[in-house]
Amino acid sequence: MDTSKKEDPSVDNLRIEYERPELQRSTLKADPVEQFKAWLDDAIATDIIEPHAMTLATATASGIPSARVVLLRGYDAKGFVFYTNYDSQKGKELAENPYAALTFYWASLHRQVRISGTVSRISAIESNHYFQSRPKSSQIGAWSSKQSQVLNSREELEDEFKEFEAEFQEKDVPRPPYWGGFIVSPEIIEFWQGRPSRLHDRFRYKLQGDGSWMIERLSP
Ligand SMILES: Cc1cc2nc3c(=O)[nH]c(=O)nc-3n(C[C@H](O)[C@H](O)[C@H](O)COP(=O)(O)O)c2cc1C
Repeated sequence: MDTSKKEDPSVDNLRIEYERPELQRSTLKADPVEQFKAWLDDAIATDIIEPHAMTLATATASGIPSARVVLLRGYDAKGFVFYTNYDSQKGKELAENPYAALTFYWASLHRQVRISGTVSRISAIESNHYFQSRPKSSQIGAWSSKQSQVLNSREELEDEFKEFEAEFQEKDVPRPPYWGGFIVSPEIIEFWQGRPSRLHDRFRYKLQGDGSWMIERLSP
């Protein structure tokens, strides 16, 4: 591994050699969600902090992009689920333009996964179910935060929290109507494995009309 950053900390001089094993076409799983599971399991088995953190990119109807990190809370053949405030910036963008991209980067494994597809809300029942599994403080936090709106002060937020904490002291906390899950139904999933000399392995799965997946190797 190159240690040049010790001599020169500037980003244009940060450089490491990727020395992980290759990603071979012959060992790729036919189903990209199975392949994703194998890689996420590897990431969970290492000391990576929050391996389920992913960058979510959305865009306005006119195509102005925005991106932020959210946590993956479930996935299967139907898609990749995260939870948020439907009135947040991302929630509003997804309402007007229901396409999104997700990116996982597991640095110590030199691996990236990119997913893109259409987005829809999961059912109220599923959102309720997940909301009820959260710690009470997180549930109250969801009521207290008008996510992505301007606050005049930290106190404003803390006062909201205290009010809801008092309101729900003796009660179960219901899911706020503006909070719930989205599912990204994948159309493209790409796996990137860093390799020496920047000759990385990339494989892209593309969903076909008959529900099967076409796999192609891409130039790094
Ligand atoms: C590690 C990490 C995990 C996060 N997980 C979530 C999440 O699951 N849901 C969420 O709404 N925001 C999450 N956030 C906060 C978002 O990055 C973002 O600040 C927030 O959702 C508002 O985004 P928006 O204004 O673009 O809608 C997380 C941030 C980090 C750094």
